[in-house]
Amino acid sequence: MTLQTEMENRDIGNLDNEVILNVKDVVVQFPRPKKKTPFNAVNGVSFELRKGETLGLVGESGSGKSMTALSLLGLVPVPGRIIEGSINLRDRRIDNLPINELRKVRGNDLGMVFQDPMTGLNPVRNIGSQLCESVIRHQNVSKSEALEIAFQALDDVGIPSARDRLEAFPHELSGGLRQRVMIALALINHPEVIIADEATTALDATIQAQILDLFRERLANATMILITHDMGVAAEICDRIAVMYAGRIVETGTIEEVLSSPRHPYTMGLLSAVPRFDIRRPKLVPIPGQPPTAEDIVQGCAFSSRCKFTKENCAERPLLEKRDNRQVACWFPKGEV
Ligand SMILES: Nc1ncnc2c1ncn2[C@@H]1O[C@H](COP(=O)(O)OP(=O)(O)O)[C@@H](O)[C@H]1O
Ligand SMILES: [Mg+2]
Repeated sequence: MTLQTEMENRDIGNLDNEVILNVKDVVVQFPRPKKKTPFNAVNGVSFELRKGETLGLVGESGSGKSMTALSLLGLVPVPGRIIEGSINLRDRRIDNLPINELRKVRGNDLGMVFQDPMTGLNPVRNIGSQLCESVIRHQNVSKSEALEIAFQALDDVGIPSARDRLEAFPHELSGGLRQRVMIALALINHPEVIIADEATTALDATIQAQILDLFRERLANATMILITHDMGVAAEICDRIAVMYAGRIVETGTIEEVLSSPRHPYTMGLLSAVPRFDIRRPKLVPIPGQPPTAEDIVQGCAFSSRCKFTKENCAERPLLEKRDNRQVACWFPKGEV
């Protein structure tokens, strides 16, 4: 099946569904001791996540994808912090919760899958006890019930001989199995939203394909944020994508819209080596120039120094504005000039 027909068969980007997560104007700032001015790793990010949709956060390394995810979970590393904006889970504001409340949100409401399973797993405790601890913290069950839930969770993510694996330590498993364990851990308390940050990046191609299959089968109807620098991964899994550049979202749309007719020059650059939509794994090509670093203070459009279409307006920051059903942050988006 081509990607195109795969898209058509999916219920993509259903904008009537209820908003589960509402992220508004979030700024994550890090002080810079040697400089007068701080650095905004996330610089005014807003998006909505609707029930049952998979939203891809896509962009080059350093664009602020992980920091956006960490801000949702209250895990921005110190001395960084959210200095502006709000994050609502349904009607509840979660960006200013005390730590004990946040712990309940993580696991109950938001489940996280990290790039490196070793950072999410405790190396000196067996898999079963780590899964059980999480179950007991969040669900009112006995130890033996928790162990059964743990077994089921491993079995559900396609881990062979799941009962025996409960006894295993993380280092005794292959990278692919460890990532499955991380996914089982993220799902075990049935969180409303799953956040997966580069969950397949560290894996070799065959294992990556297997984990993507698992996402597609097991999480087809999940409400999920999938973070990746790989547009091909996003194309396989996501309903909608938000393209990030220098701490901001520059374009959003359904995956089909963005791949077939990108409107922001940055997205166009990312996709310029993708002549046809039905190629399964579009690869990103480098765009000449460098994104702004933490050293650069950007007043206007952060992409303007690399952009072919830049004009004088670009010294002023474009906002992410709704145009038809899409959003683009550009003074001269494609199709309008
Ligand atoms: N602990 C930290 N302290 C200061 N700056 C950081 C820290 N972690 C990340 N950053 C900076 O924040 C920006 C966004 O990083 P990140 O969200 O990790 O990007 P991505 O996940 O898109 O690769 C980058 O410029 C990065 O250098
Ligand atoms: Mg990252």
